[in-house]
Amino acid sequence: HEEFTKVKNIAKIELGRYEIDTWYFSPFPPEYNDCPKLFFCEFCLNFMKRKEQLQRHMKKCDLKHPPGDEIYRSGTLSMFEVDGKKNKVYGQNLCYLAKLFLDHKTLYYDVDLFLFYVLCECDDRGCHMVGYFSKEKHSEESYNLACILTLPPYQRKGYGKFLIAFSYELSKKEGKVGTPERPLSDLGLLSYRGYWTRVLLEILKKHKGNISIKELSDMTAIKSDDILSTLQSLDLIQYRKGQHVICADPKVLDRHLKAAGRGGLDVDVSKLIWTPYK
Ligand code: COA
Ligand code: NA
Repeated sequence: HEEFTKVKNIAKIELGRYEIDTWYFSPFPPEYNDCPKLFFCEFCLNFMKRKEQLQRHMKKCDLKHPPGDEIYRSGTLSMFEVDGKKNKVYGQNLCYLAKLFLDHKTLYYDVDLFLFYVLCECDDRGCHMVGYFSKEKHSEESYNLACILTLPPYQRKGYGKFLIAFSYELSKKEGKVGTPERPLSDLGLLSYRGYWTRVLLEILKKHKGNISIKELSDMTAIKSDDILSTLQSLDLIQYRKGQHVICADPKVLDRHLKAAGRGGLDVDVSKLIWTPYK
């Protein structure tokens, strides 16, 4: 837990058309620790100490989007799947960048074991990263997401909820339930709670008759523990005759749904072209 005590080293980064103030320490190689600002190529994520180096780099770099496969496109939004084993340097650069905004995560530099799902807004200049999540290729604990980040200039616009929804769509295609790796940050937990609440309550609102947590889990790929804790936190669970019973008074559901905020950007599953990693 050494990283807790480390002082923030890089104060600002430049990425695409944004200058971004960083939040936390990130373990860049030592030769970068004396520079207050780092310049990132927004496509390959290589980083440099000086603006002129970046300008020279941009003339040579042929990437206009993240490396890897475009597995989703809807309007100007695209998702790329990057295999950390095939694109090691990109995966490492992404981890360095992400750690600047993640407090408690010990980042995995063994990027081989991860897939990175990089969300982009595309225009005629290229596909510009807005955020990403990482996912272990094989998780014993049924984790379907390791780290999630929306870059600060893009936060509070619904991209986080889009990334979370996307991670569950992948789990549905795998025929598995999933859960995010713990611990979650405060912002991470808020985003997940909002997502779980909205998805579960929308189903409860439409559903007629009894429904079990197992059935909810099968429909949503949300792990039963997360369903139970979400419904418990909303006080929608009663314990009767040794069983959990979901109370779904429509008025109460509507009140909670309102409080859960906006739905964000929807994932159009018909635009997802993907087969699970083997
Ligand atoms: N203050 C209060 N609530 C916030 C918030 C903030 N600054 N940021 C997000 N939320 C809550 C809100 O409930 C929001 O829904 P609303 O806008 O409808 O009210 C919900 O979270 C998600 O918002 P959304 O716009 O979809 O998320 P985002 O694109 O801002 O991304 C994170 C959310 C968690 C990915 C983003 O905050 C982030 O990258 N944080 C830094 C990295 C991190 O902590 N990752 C999780 C660790 S595992
Ligand atoms: Na994981």
